[in-house]
Amino acid sequence: MYKDLLTLRDINRSELDELFELTGKLKRERGTFEGNVLKGKSIGLIFAKSSTRTRVSFEVGVHELGGNPLYLDQSRMQIGRGETVADTANVLSRYLHGIVIRTFSQQDIEELARVATIPVINALTDEYHPCQILADLYTILEKSGTLNVKTVFVGDGASNIANSLMLAAKLTGMQLVVASPREYAPCQAILEECAPYVQWCEDPVEAVKNADYVYTDVWVSMGFEEERAKRLSTLAPYQVNAALMSHAAKDVKFLHCLPAHRGEEVAADVMDSDMSIVFDEAENRLHVQKAVLSMIFRNIAK
Ligand code: CP
Ligand code: NVA
Repeated sequence: MYKDLLTLRDINRSELDELFELTGKLKRERGTFEGNVLKGKSIGLIFAKSSTRTRVSFEVGVHELGGNPLYLDQSRMQIGRGETVADTANVLSRYLHGIVIRTFSQQDIEELARVATIPVINALTDEYHPCQILADLYTILEKSGTLNVKTVFVGDGASNIANSLMLAAKLTGMQLVVASPREYAPCQAILEECAPYVQWCEDPVEAVKNADYVYTDVWVSMGFEEERAKRLSTLAPYQVNAALMSHAAKDVKFLHCLPAHRGEEVAADVMDSDMSIVFDEAENRLHVQKAVLSMIFRNIAK
């Protein structure tokens, strides 16, 4: 990871270890350790989709690193009226010191990063959500002391979360099983890229056997609202509930990127149980993203 974080392909294992060491320090010594890595720097936070965690954790994180976060609603920018991504990248590079962007197309942020002379961080596209998965991995490391665990993702196997989790399995060697119906099976190219760390399985009960972590995500991702009825009916057998969790390891933990929809992808008997570590996971977004920003801005200052 040098200038950009567009997918987890941008980070190698030794950088990940360094990132998590820094995350630990930032978390333990919040308010005293940060330094001023973003002092005098303005970071644009462009959002084309809704957000609670990502927006707030980046705004707070940039502020805590001494920088100035600028929230930019993409629908109010000229890009929403046809200005090209490349022109936007050129212009913003002359005002800002970094861009965090949540949008639809992964291609658009790849283009933005190619043209921009400043760092670009992916805050979610239809295809990937690397910041989320870095926080998830850090949460697993915190709870288990190792990433040598079995994680099972249950639900929409073609979602941005599933795609990024698969890349995380390849990055760390973690065992990942994706349980989904055939209609929402993982992308074949990513499955092949991440073999032998990732398996796909249609049967959620079979998949969660011996799982240390069970992870799910919404059945209707942002931008897919028109498919809501079909998704809810096809994915219904993949709800994460106490009955499903009873087939996993004895001290299994539940992960969810949030927002959660109780009664859809997760039942309240899991979401609100002691198995759930979703709020620790959400908190870690802040600490991990501060570490990402710190590493990138240190790199480019060298
Ligand atoms: N998990 C996540 O990215 O949440 P938000 O959509 O609220 O940012
Ligand atoms: N897959 C979900 C993740 C939300 C954080 C979405 O894209 O809406």
